[in-house]
Amino acid sequence: MSRRPSRLDAWPRAFDPAVELDWGDPVVSRRLLREHLDQTHDGASRRLRVIDEHVPRLLRLLPHPPAEVLDAACGPGLYAVRLARAGHRVTALDVGPAVVAHAQRLARERPAGGRVSARVGDLRALAERDRFDAAVLIYHVLEAFPRRQQVGVLRRLGVALRAGAPLIVEMRLRPDQDEGRISSWDVVNGSLLSDRRHLLLVETVHDRAANTYVLRETAVFDDGTTSVQQTSSALTRFAAIPALFTRAGLRVEAVYDGWSRFRGTALSESVLVVARRS
Ligand SMILES: C[S@@+](CC[C@H](N)C(=O)[O-])C[C@H]1O[C@@H](n2cnc3c(N)ncnc32)[C@H](O)[C@@H]1O
Repeated sequence: MSRRPSRLDAWPRAFDPAVELDWGDPVVSRRLLREHLDQTHDGASRRLRVIDEHVPRLLRLLPHPPAEVLDAACGPGLYAVRLARAGHRVTALDVGPAVVAHAQRLARERPAGGRVSARVGDLRALAERDRFDAAVLIYHVLEAFPRRQQVGVLRRLGVALRAGAPLIVEMRLRPDQDEGRISSWDVVNGSLLSDRRHLLLVETVHDRAANTYVLRETAVFDDGTTSVQQTSSALTRFAAIPALFTRAGLRVEAVYDGWSRFRGTALSESVLVVARRS
């Protein structure tokens, strides 16, 4: 949204609907795809070499192939095509049209890509029942929904699974900064906000009491106007994970410390939760 600088909110508010990123917007999705595929950072998707390290771990947590796997919020399909290569049949779902188009392209080009079916869809409206042998929700997608929507998304994923099938959810438990705000700026040739060269102001705000984290970007253009977008996260404390999944009709079977095989603790920065329909 375009605003005069004097109209900007001094501090970002988590999940402010006026500026929260619309992942399903075609222009945003096209710009996001660039970030997903950029091998200089792990901003939207992780770099391919990291994904290649994750896939063997994921395969150990999934049923033996061939299984029907739902890659929920698949982004450009980087995990999906690798799971297909291991023998799974993967339904890859994401709300972003450009990232789904990329996943479809990969599926056409890659060996075993025929086992990937990628389509645009919103997890908040997922309506499949008893269909999948497993589902994955990878790279901090769950916390990007407001708290009141997280249970609904988990519940829909659970309903889409066959009884006893695993749901694997990667959750970030804490941001990599202390409480408060960190600001920086740069002049960039393009960003999620524009394809033109502009000044980009970046802030991250960690509110420990609310347990939220916001990344706000403000583009300042040559004519003095600004454009703002942010992504918010509603984080869950380690001890509260089982209750979150229970509210969604799921039973937590294991919580791992990040992508390791070790159990998560309250000190974990991120966890992989393995849950099943109860
Ligand atoms: C951080 S990216 C992770 C993508 C992918 N899992 C990966 O690791 O490469 C978050 C993804 O969630 C998708 N997303 C956000 N809200 C969604 C929704 N309501 N339904 C489906 N996908 C959504 C975005 O479009 C984006 O591709």
